Amino acid sequence: MNLTVYEPGTDLPPGMVAAVHELFRASYHRYHYLAEVASTGRIKVIATAHDRVCGYASASRTGKLYRLANLLVDLGSRGAGLGRRLERVRYDCVRDRGMSCYVSCTCEDSTSQVLKLDLGMRPVAVKIGYRADVVRPGERGSAVVFTDDAIEVAEPQDDSIVRNDALRRTRYVSADPKPEVLAGLPADDFAEVLTGSGGLRRMAGMPGFRLAGHEYDAVDAQWHYCFQACNAAYEEGMRQQPTIAVMPEQLDVGL
Ligand SMILES: CC(C)(COP(=O)(O)OP(=O)(O)OC[C@H]1O[C@@H](n2cnc3c(N)ncnc32)[C@H](O)[C@@H]1OP(=O)(O)O)[C@@H](O)C(=O)NCCC(=O)NCCS
Repeated sequence: MNLTVYEPGTDLPPGMVAAVHELFRASYHRYHYLAEVASTGRIKVIATAHDRVCGYASASRTGKLYRLANLLVDLGSRGAGLGRRLERVRYDCVRDRGMSCYVSCTCEDSTSQVLKLDLGMRPVAVKIGYRADVVRPGERGSAVVFTDDAIEVAEPQDDSIVRNDALRRTRYVSADPKPEVLAGLPADDFAEVLTGSGGLRRMAGMPGFRLAGHEYDAVDAQWHYCFQACNAAYEEGMRQQPTIAVMPEQLDVGL
């Protein structure tokens, strides 16, 4: 098994993009990040055996952090240590740059979460029902956010609402979340509110929301408190019994 690191700015060898796409298509019902494989802005670690791609992981810089993404080992190669090797190599690439990491880890099973813990990253948020229809149609997968960054919560400077139709997620960022905006968040899809210390007390007393933990906003490159709407997507995510191996430490929210 060979692991090759492709640094940002490097093109993959001919045929490699298609081979990595095939790896993802074989494991997922719908994978939204295929276009990232051809992007030259990322660190990519690719595992091959006998000219076949059997594992992939990438990382891309977003503000002050590197976001780890796309970790996948093909079904026939799992359980033999390849995932751990990919994680280690990718993590070392980022740490060698003197940077910290962020990752939103799926909860299909505990393997990926255990690997993040073993790298020394810690869980900082749990998002229930975060991923729709990725592994199987009708699935509402959940996620645990891990980081090795030192978190300092900042007040959002600007209000924004970002809706991602493909991923069926909405993010409302505000230092002072408005009840009328909260009431208008989607009832069926994942919805979250990022706020600072000022909005914390208001959100904590808001029926229909739960404190998910800390979340990093790539737009302002800051950490905020993250509240999740306890809507139909949340209920469905809970019903599907996510495997959550680790819970974030009790947040110092000063309520
Ligand atoms: C997560 C994933 C990449 C791990 O790859 P892998 O090659 O199977 O992982 P490894 O063989 O290195 O195993 C890592 C650890 O997971 C655990 N593990 C692996 N397979 C396991 C199994 N079948 N049953 C129980 N534990 C298992 C072991 O604790 C192992 O630790 P060890 O080194 O002490 O034995 C792979 O399962 C995968 O592609 N999953 C689907 C995609 C995914 O979840 N990606 C992560 C997105 S955040």
